[in-house]
Amino acid sequence: MACFLLLRIEDPARARSWLRQSLPEVTSAAEKTPEQLAHWRTSVNLALTGSGLKALGLPEAALETFPSEFREGMAARADILGDEQESSPETWEYGGTSGPASQEAVHLLLMLYATTEQELSSLLATQRSRLEAGGLRELAAQRTARIRDARGGMVEHFGFRDGISQPEIEGFRESKHEGPDHGAIKPGEFLLGYENEYAESPDVPSVPAVLDTTGALPAQAHRRDWKELGRNGSYLVLRKLEENVDAFQHFLEAHKELGVGESDEQKKQWLAAKLMGRWHNGAPLRPGEDVPPAEPPDGRHGHDNSFGFRENDLDGHGCPVASHVRRANPRDALPPSAELSMQVSRRHRILRRGITYSDASGKGVLFIALNANIARQFEFLQQTWLNNGKFGGRYDERDPLMTHGAGQLTLPRQPLRRCVEGISRFVTMKGGGYFFLPSIRALDFLAHLEP
Ligand code: HEM
Repeated sequence: MACFLLLRIEDPARARSWLRQSLPEVTSAAEKTPEQLAHWRTSVNLALTGSGLKALGLPEAALETFPSEFREGMAARADILGDEQESSPETWEYGGTSGPASQEAVHLLLMLYATTEQELSSLLATQRSRLEAGGLRELAAQRTARIRDARGGMVEHFGFRDGISQPEIEGFRESKHEGPDHGAIKPGEFLLGYENEYAESPDVPSVPAVLDTTGALPAQAHRRDWKELGRNGSYLVLRKLEENVDAFQHFLEAHKELGVGESDEQKKQWLAAKLMGRWHNGAPLRPGEDVPPAEPPDGRHGHDNSFGFRENDLDGHGCPVASHVRRANPRDALPPSAELSMQVSRRHRILRRGITYSDASGKGVLFIALNANIARQFEFLQQTWLNNGKFGGRYDERDPLMTHGAGQLTLPRQPLRRCVEGISRFVTMKGGGYFFLPSIRALDFLAHLEP
């Protein structure tokens, strides 16, 4: 379980001193020994918005080295993200265009993770007790907790196994999978300062070297009077996505005759799986299979990620082209060829670290994505694949789960395709932001800034 605190910096000098004190507690990515892992109970991470970096004292010349989508912030990108009507930033609980927790006011994201509720409460109490002296004001607190199914797999509120498909990063872990989707992705897609899927290492956000009084940061290779603030950091996309489970269930009930199965329940499960793009137990959808394959004793279905679409399912008779999962990662199915499709897909991967929440306002997923280029990765997925009515040669069909009422979805089927109409909104955006997740050295630099 976890709690995410959105904080405002009210006194920069005190906030920097708080950061100096907190630094030893921030969980680093350094490899842990099995011994350390066995005793691992809590983690603390810290990320900042563009206005947060400014509030902490980072000068304009350095801020300008951050990409524009990050500096503009998520609320300002509503048009690109399709955050409209009930999802528009005017209505957000935090990170939106108005209210005390607006995008401009949110400076810091303090992420607290723990193994038990008791440990989380105690970690939260300790952190909260230091905020006032640290010149920080708490604007919002977002609690989250994983839901697990009988086999211990993570599920989300619509009832699907989640957290299955993740990119494997070159140099980090042995590849677990073989097959069309796989092959590790270059680290520069997720970590700043490394080679990416374009065989390039783009410049990272930097600061004039004179500001680095403690020598925390590495020098930039081609401008020795600048230092790299971004290296080993990443960008974190946070979105509170409310799931309207009742609306989803009503929809399935009203359209169950379009489903396939012997009982009403099976028909609804079939239909839901076609919208999502996987069975509830996480198994991939394959042509000719109208019931979910039984889960093997080791529960491994929920991990099956070794598949492509081109060879057996190019037309989407198994996994519909317009379903959530196939849009979010088309793998080898994009024209003109498997090879080019894989190249494109590999350039638009994100590391998903979302957790389910349930609070007074509703329930859903606190979606968290890590990527090195918000515009090319997260925003591209959202705009060009999930929200695009023309995706995959369709006429006017959006992601059936993530958009403001996708309208319709075509399910290819022999002898006649089925068309599901009247798909309303099942997910509403409630708040979020774009954050810079600095390396430990970058946090050290920020803690010692002398503006
Ligand atoms: C309430 C919101 C959402 C829910 C309930 C949800 C649910 C799911 C589920 C059940 C899966 C399949 C299991 C898995 O592979 O982990 C999945 C996959 C995925 N989702 Fe979502 N999702 C949500 C929002 C989003 C958003 C906003 C994005 C990106 C902008 C996204 C991107 C992805 C990606 C990239 C995959 C993996 C696809 C693959 O590689 O096969 N999801 N999602």
